[in-house]
Amino acid sequence: MAALDIAPATGKLGILTPGMGAVASTAYAGVIAARMGLAAPIGSLTQMAHIRLGERSEGRNPLIRDFVPLASLDDLVFGGWDPISPNALEAARTAGVLTNEDLAPLSAELEGVVAMDAVFDQRWVKNLDGVRVKTGASKWDLAQQVIADIERFKAENECDRLVMVWCGSTEAYQEPSEVHESIESFEAGLKASDPNIAPSEIYAYAALASGVPYANGAPNLTIDLPAMEQLAIQNGVAITGKDFKTGQTLMKTILAPGFKARMLGLRGWYSTNILGNRDGEVLDDPENFKTKEVSKLGVLDTILQPELYPELYGNIDHVVRINYYPPRGDNKEGWDAIDIFGRMGYPMQIKVDFMCRDSILAAPIVLDLALFLDLAQRAGQSGVQEWLSFYWKSPQAGPVGPEHDIFIQQIKLKNTLRQWMGEEPVTHAEDE
Ligand SMILES: NC(=O)c1ccc[n+]([C@@H]2O[C@H](COP(=O)([O-])OP(=O)(O)OC[C@H]3O[C@@H](n4cnc5c(N)ncnc54)[C@H](O)[C@@H]3O)[C@@H](O)[C@H]2O)c1
Repeated sequence: MAALDIAPATGKLGILTPGMGAVASTAYAGVIAARMGLAAPIGSLTQMAHIRLGERSEGRNPLIRDFVPLASLDDLVFGGWDPISPNALEAARTAGVLTNEDLAPLSAELEGVVAMDAVFDQRWVKNLDGVRVKTGASKWDLAQQVIADIERFKAENECDRLVMVWCGSTEAYQEPSEVHESIESFEAGLKASDPNIAPSEIYAYAALASGVPYANGAPNLTIDLPAMEQLAIQNGVAITGKDFKTGQTLMKTILAPGFKARMLGLRGWYSTNILGNRDGEVLDDPENFKTKEVSKLGVLDTILQPELYPELYGNIDHVVRINYYPPRGDNKEGWDAIDIFGRMGYPMQIKVDFMCRDSILAAPIVLDLALFLDLAQRAGQSGVQEWLSFYWKSPQAGPVGPEHDIFIQQIKLKNTLRQWMGEEPVTHAEDE
């Protein structure tokens, strides 16, 4: 198997996040803490996972980061835009994810990550009042301002390469419209300030126009649109999305493949969440919740394949609720009531109560996505990176549709890395 020609990860990699809230500030903090030797980068495959190469008997199990040429943590620089947070330290304090004690050694570096003025429009996020917001004659003009921000950031921080990871709020629900159909219609729409162009799409356009890979951490459509996919291919840029797979959906994509593997039936899955962070406040608006709901609901059907197994999975009530409950802050509680059935249709119940920490789970994903996207870009890949489906609640995929089963996603991710490096994929068929 011939290896791809992958450019080395020399120089600095800038990670730009539109949105500097709980997830982004925890992601920066985690990297800085790991760099200072204060905390292991738990949760990041790029830092902690090993990958088996060849037959089991060969005993070759390097760390992924020793196997593929990833940017080193020492070479990362952070930047971002936010309409509210002035800098990453303030963002971290507001988010309340990390204690003051944990923030103290990181505070100088975090404070130095100053938010750039955002492209923000309250029509898309009703429950937030933006104060650091760009103004411009048109959406085209705003996109040009973001392009200028990108160039300035790259020059000032002497970066060799950049990646952009959306860590901003979930925007109001939208369906693709005519303006999203082609690069030409989208650019005309920017110039005419078409109301169907959301702020996240302006950042994404600016990134792709600048040759910067883009990962979409929210369920917003953003790059899951023909115009953006075309632009990514045209400009040779890698993209991936959407909606970080963290708490409840992570559990769902771990459990559901297990039920299916044992041919156990499923009658219903009721998921509810209480959370009290800014994300919860944004999702309290029905329009923003709908974007999230669509993303969360897609998972079960694809894993369980009701078209192949109608008697097991043809009649499922799948309900997802999110309730804003300030006392919990970022420490979300996700309950699942799962109704399964076995031989002769006898019902059984499983209850999962995941007392999770949303941003602690999302932050390692931000790092992995940034490093893997940068790798893909250096490996000459462009367009949608399906091998990164592992990280997404609602993976962006080609015409055959997404793969949601986390174990298949993991195999696909690792086999992609093996193939790019000229190693044989592992099929587990051998018994060595
Ligand atoms: N934490 C998780 O486990 C998780 C999982 C999946 C998806 N997400 C998504 O990740 C995103 C970030 O989550 P969070 O918990 O950090 O939320 P947060 O509310 O703490 O941070 C989001 C930040 O984005 C800013 N923002 C809003 N609109 C913006 C714009 N147009 N440009 C720039 N900044 C903008 C807000 O001011 C806020 O500071 C949300 O969309 C959330 O739904 C989070």
